[in-house]
Amino acid sequence: MNLTGPLRILYAALFRPIASLYLWVGVLFSNRLLRAHWPRALPTPLSAPDTISVVTGCNTGIGYDTALALSRAGSTVVVCCRSKDKAEQTVERLRRAGASGRLLPLACELSSLASVRAAALELRQRVPHVDFLVLNAGVMNLPTLQLSEDGYEMHFAVNHIGHYLLTRLLIGQVRKAVIVLSSDGHIMGRTDAIDDVNWDKRGRNTYDGFAAYADSKMANVLFALECNRQYPSIRAVAVHPGAVYTDLMRHTVSDRARSRMEGLLRRLLRSPADGAATTLRAMADCCEKGGDERLALYYRDAHPSWAVGEDDTAAAAHLWQVTEEMVRPFLDV
Ligand SMILES: NC(=O)c1ccc[n+]([C@@H]2O[C@H](COP(=O)([O-])OP(=O)(O)OC[C@H]3O[C@@H](n4cnc5c(N)ncnc54)[C@H](OP(=O)(O)O)[C@@H]3O)[C@@H](O)[C@H]2O)c1
Repeated sequence: MNLTGPLRILYAALFRPIASLYLWVGVLFSNRLLRAHWPRALPTPLSAPDTISVVTGCNTGIGYDTALALSRAGSTVVVCCRSKDKAEQTVERLRRAGASGRLLPLACELSSLASVRAAALELRQRVPHVDFLVLNAGVMNLPTLQLSEDGYEMHFAVNHIGHYLLTRLLIGQVRKAVIVLSSDGHIMGRTDAIDDVNWDKRGRNTYDGFAAYADSKMANVLFALECNRQYPSIRAVAVHPGAVYTDLMRHTVSDRARSRMEGLLRRLLRSPADGAATTLRAMADCCEKGGDERLALYYRDAHPSWAVGEDDTAAAAHLWQVTEEMVRPFLDV
C-alpha cells in the first residue's frame, strides 16, 4: 500500500493489528470449523491427460501433493526441486505413492538466477511445451535478513524474483495457466516493497521475517495481475491454500516444539493434500473458463475469491518493470 503521512500512521496503527487478528482467527478457528466440510476431493476432479505440468518446490508439503495429484490426473510432471538429488528422490517417492504418469526431475535453486536460467533452458530442451506452470516453492519467516546469490532479500528472491525469471524464460512454451502460491498473509504486505527489497530504506535493523514474507506474497498477487495483462492468451492466478501443516513453519516453530505439538497442529491445520486442492481447483477453472474475463485472480480455500491489491494495476506494472531489470542479464538465450 503506497500511503504517506497520517494515512500511513493510521494504516500501521489499525490495519496491521486487524489483519493479524484476521489471520490468526482464520488459522485457529476457520480451519477447524471448516474441516468437517472441507472437500477431500475436488467437486470435479482435474483431468489432465496429455498435459505437461511444472511444479516448483515439490519435494515436500503442498507441492508434493500437487505433483502427485497431477500425475494421477494424467499429466507429465516436471518435478522441480533445489537439487538434482532431491528431484530424483522425490520422483522415487511419487512413484511409490502411486504416481502413474511420466515424471521428469529437474534441479532449480530459486535463490540463484543462474540456476533458474539453467533449469529453464534444460526444460525447453526436454519438453515441447508446458500446459501448467505451478510456482509453488516458498520460504517463510527467515529469522535474519539473508541475501540471495544475486544480492536480493531471500523471501523476495525465492518467492518472487526466481519465479518471475522462470516464468519469463518459459512463457513462450506455456499453453494454459500460471498458478502462483501466494497467501492470505499478502494482506499485510506492501505493494511498493519492490522499491525496498533489501530493507535499506526501512532500515535493515527493522527487518521482520513475517513482513518480508507478506511483501513477497503481495508480489505474487501483483505478478499474477500483470502476467494476465502481458500474456492475455494464458491465465495467471494466485492462490491461498489455507493454513496447512507443512515444513513452511520450520523457521517459526522449532523442531522440538513441532514434535511436541504435532497432534494439535495436525488437528488444527489442513493436510498438504487438502492444501493442494486450491491449486488444482484454479487449474481446472483455467482449463474450463480460460477465456472468461471474469475468472478470479485469487483463489482461497478452493474457491474463487479476492485479494488486496488485485486492482492495483499501477503497482503491478511497476513490480513487473523493476523485476524485469533485476533479471535482465539472465534473459538472453
Ligand atoms: N503451509 C501453509 O499454511 C501455507 C499458507 C499459505 C501459503 N502457502 C504457500 O504455499 C507454498 C508451498 O508451501 P508449503 O506449505 O508446502 O511449504 P514447504 O513444505 O516448506 O515447501 C516449500 C517448498 O519450497 C522449496 N523451496 C524453498 N526454498 C527454495 C529455493 N531457494 N529453491 C527452490 N526451492 C525452494 C522447499 O524445498 P526445500 O525442502 O529443499 O527447502 C519446498 O519444496 C509456499 O509458496 C507458501 O508460501 C503455504
